[in-house]
Parts: sequence; structure tokens; C-alpha cells
Amino acid sequence: MKNFIQNLPKAELHLHIEGTLEPELMFKLAKKNSIKIPYQNVDDVRKAYEFDSLQPFLDIYYAGASVLITQEDFYDLTWAYLLKCKDQNILHVEIFFDPQTHTSRGVAFGDVVEGISEALNDGHEKLGISSFLIMSFLRHLSEDEAIKTLKESLPYKYFIKGVGLDSSELGNPPSKFQKVFRMAKNAGYKCVAHAGEEGDASYIKEAIELLGVDRIDHGVRCEEDRELMKRLKDEQIPLTMCPLSNLKLKVVGDLKNYNLKKLLEYGLCVTVNSDDPAYFGGYLNENYEAMAKSLNLSKEDMKTISKNSFKASFLDDEDIKKIIYEI
Ligand code: ADE
Ligand code: ZN
Repeated sequence: MKNFIQNLPKAELHLHIEGTLEPELMFKLAKKNSIKIPYQNVDDVRKAYEFDSLQPFLDIYYAGASVLITQEDFYDLTWAYLLKCKDQNILHVEIFFDPQTHTSRGVAFGDVVEGISEALNDGHEKLGISSFLIMSFLRHLSEDEAIKTLKESLPYKYFIKGVGLDSSELGNPPSKFQKVFRMAKNAGYKCVAHAGEEGDASYIKEAIELLGVDRIDHGVRCEEDRELMKRLKDEQIPLTMCPLSNLKLKVVGDLKNYNLKKLLEYGLCVTVNSDDPAYFGGYLNENYEAMAKSLNLSKEDMKTISKNSFKASFLDDEDIKKIIYEI
């Protein structure tokens, strides 16, 4: 099965570029940029990666991102992830970045976008990996701040495919961001949102009904609402699920009880993704392997999941058809 997964062409649709910051690069950049981090060494960092919910993880994740300062830092971070993609036979990636995490520290929006985009461009030319960039708004901040970020992005629209919504879910429902998503849609951006990771099914419903999202990031808790399940199925609204993330952040206690197989069998367009692989102990293939093992999934199931990853992507229909045929 491991070889089968390795050889399967895959797309990754739920990946925070800041969540690919491995401790080795964190230390290297901290030293170069003279940023203090609260760890003595790489082992120390890894030991700190024990979380009992989303918020303690986010606190550490934002602190880690503080070592990213220059355009070159964002290039190096992205390039390291693309090399991993090449290793894992990932042909297409749709990458989140959190501009507010960086602009709030005085890093220029353009440095972030141009650093990431240059690496993505090289990834296409040198590694044959296609990609899109998705700008995420931090939902613990206000909608006005999200609107400011949206306006800042417009000169760089050429580099950005869509907008997303991430960070602390509980208490920050999609309804808080209706205006900025409407503006983003009018500007021609695709829309996605994290929903139903820690928040209940109403967060997913709101993301669909009030934000008009093209897909749901996570969506684990959709099962709580039968009508919502039917809509997800009828309209084939994709879920970008992240098993190792959900295990690490205690969204699920044991992957043997994870609902991915059930959702797949019900007919939802379920995909598997890695979220923040440097923090959760596995990149994309490790997530596929965890699902195969814990849920006893077959090679056919793995093929369905990889086909779904392209079907749910923002690639052109013709490109999607071609790769699905190849799979
Ligand atoms: N930002 C990075 N990873 C996240 C996650 N799993 N949920 C919400 N926001 C995030
Ligand atoms: Zn995420």
C-alpha cells in the first residue's frame, strides 16, 4: 500500500505554507534574522508539539512564523515544501498563506506574496508542479482588518487564486465575514473556508450559505446535520479533510473512529490533506497511509481520494479530466 500511495498522482488542497516550517529551518532563519525563539534546539521544538486543541497549536504556530522576515525566507520555505511534493508525487498544490500574521509584524505584503510566488513559479518550471495560492483571513481578527487585507492584495491579484478563512474557529463564525467574502467574490477570487473543525455543523452551513464557498476545509462535523450532508452530496461540495491534524489537535481521539470512510461511502467529495505537516508529524503520503491503515481502505478507495483531490481543485476542467483518466 505504501508504494501504491507513493505512485498515486495526488493534489494537495489544504496546506498552510507557514505550517511547513520545519524546526531546522526555523532555527536557521531565527539565527539569520536575529529573532529570539523559546527553544534551545530542534528536539526542544519537537517536544513542544503536544496540543490538546486548536488554540495551543495556533499560539506556537504564530510564534514559529515570526522567524520569516524577507522575501527570500518565504521563497526558501515554499521551495522546501515543493521538494517534498516532488518526493511524494504531488502534481498540484493549492497553498494557503496568512498575510496578516506577517504584515502585523511589519513584513511587506509584497515580500510575502512575491517570495512564495517565485518559488511556485520555479516549482512549475523545474519540478513540473502546478499550483495556486489562497490568501487566508485570520478569523480571530475583525472583518475590517480582513477588508484591509483584501484591498492590499488587489495589486497582487495575478498571483492569488482565492481567499480562505482560518485560525480560531470557535466564537468566530463565517457570518462575521460575509461582507469581505462578497467583496472577494466580486473581485474574482475563489472562496473557501475552514469550518466544522472544532465548530459545529452550523459553521459549515454558514460557510456555504453566507460566504458561498467553493469547498469546505475540514468539515469533520458535517455529520451532525442530515440536511447539510444531503446538500454536500447533491452539490458535491468538497471537504478538504486532514486526518493527522485532526488527531494531533484532538478533533478525533483515535483515527480508527475517524468519519472519512463513512463520508466517502455516503457519496461526499472527500479529499485527504496535510494542513500543517511540520507540526503534525506527516506530509500528504503519511496522511493517506494513516487512512488506509486506520480505516482499512482499499487501493480503489485511495484512487477515489486522489481523483477527488483533482476534481475538487481549481484546475481547468480539461486538465482535471486528463489526470483523472490517467489515474
Ligand atoms: N491555521 C493553520 N492551521 C490551522 C487549522 N488547522 N485550523 C485553523 N487555522 C489554521
Ligand atoms: Zn487548515
